[in-house]
Amino acid sequence: MFAPEIAVIWLHVAVFQLPGLRCEANYLQFAIGWTWDRKPVVDHEKINVTISPGPDHSKYTVDVKFSGPILKRDPQPDDAQKGAPYPWITEYECAQAFFANEEGRYLQVIMDPYGSYQILLHDGYRAEKSYLRAASSLKANGSWWEGKLTIPVTYFPPRVTKFNAAAEHGQPLGNRSFEVLHPQDPDKHPYPDAHVVQYFQTINFYEVCPGNREAEYSMYWLDVMSAGSSITVSVAYLIVIEVAVKCVGRILS
Ligand SMILES: *[C@@H]1O[C@H](CO)[C@@H](O)[C@H](O)[C@H]1NC(C)=O
Ligand SMILES: *[C@@H]1O[C@H](CO)[C@@H](O)[C@H](O)[C@H]1NC(C)=O
Ligand SMILES: *[C@@H]1O[C@H](CO)[C@@H](O)[C@H](O)[C@H]1NC(C)=O
Repeated sequence: MFAPEIAVIWLHVAVFQLPGLRCEANYLQFAIGWTWDRKPVVDHEKINVTISPGPDHSKYTVDVKFSGPILKRDPQPDDAQKGAPYPWITEYECAQAFFANEEGRYLQVIMDPYGSYQILLHDGYRAEKSYLRAASSLKANGSWWEGKLTIPVTYFPPRVTKFNAAAEHGQPLGNRSFEVLHPQDPDKHPYPDAHVVQYFQTINFYEVCPGNREAEYSMYWLDVMSAGSSITVSVAYLIVIEVAVKCVGRILS
């Protein structure tokens, strides 16, 4: 007996499920297992970062998911909102992911266990210029969280090759834990700083976002980069003016 529903189900499996499965195979997962100064994290379960194609199979978005224990060594920020950017997020418990290209430009994605986030574009070391929004979701109980941000591909710099991830928690500042995927050399950089791109390591980002290989700088990046060059231009003008003033001063004296 021919059952059309079964044929429809099979067609559905063939057409829709298989690309889904292929996507599942395309995720990258990292466990944040080191303190910033190269000691293994042993006092709690590691915080993980998982990068996978977004719901549209990474044509337009990439999912960045943080999961791990809620350590509760910080108060919960009372002015932060679930699902919204929060500018002071790094003063509380949070996890971060950094995506850099060979030109030293990088995207920083931060989320906390209560569902607020921060997304920053850096035109070089800590040259943050843009506060962007993304769709987010949070699953959490009292002790474990899983937060996901669906990041538009246009937020990533083109040709991402390097990656690092970090998690921080604990107050006061002197008693704060800074944990990373790839630790820094504490002799060369004696303070915790997850922005030093030289410690990032290779990521096969094109596996989850093939379009990034051929991408151009998006309008978000062009905006950030032109803001940078206008600052450079004004600094150059100031130097010219200062030199001119000194010359005039010498001539007059
Ligand atoms: C975290 O990531 C590591 C490395 O991929 C994996 O072995 C581990 O099972 C993950 N833990 C959880 C809770 O997902
Ligand atoms: C919270 O969720 C985690 C992971 O699913 C589970 O291991 C843990 O037992 C849960 N804790 C509570 C208090 O429900
Ligand atoms: C520092 O943090 C630890 C938890 O890692 C805590 O047990 C300790 O009381 C804290 N010390 C201070 C001075 O806050």
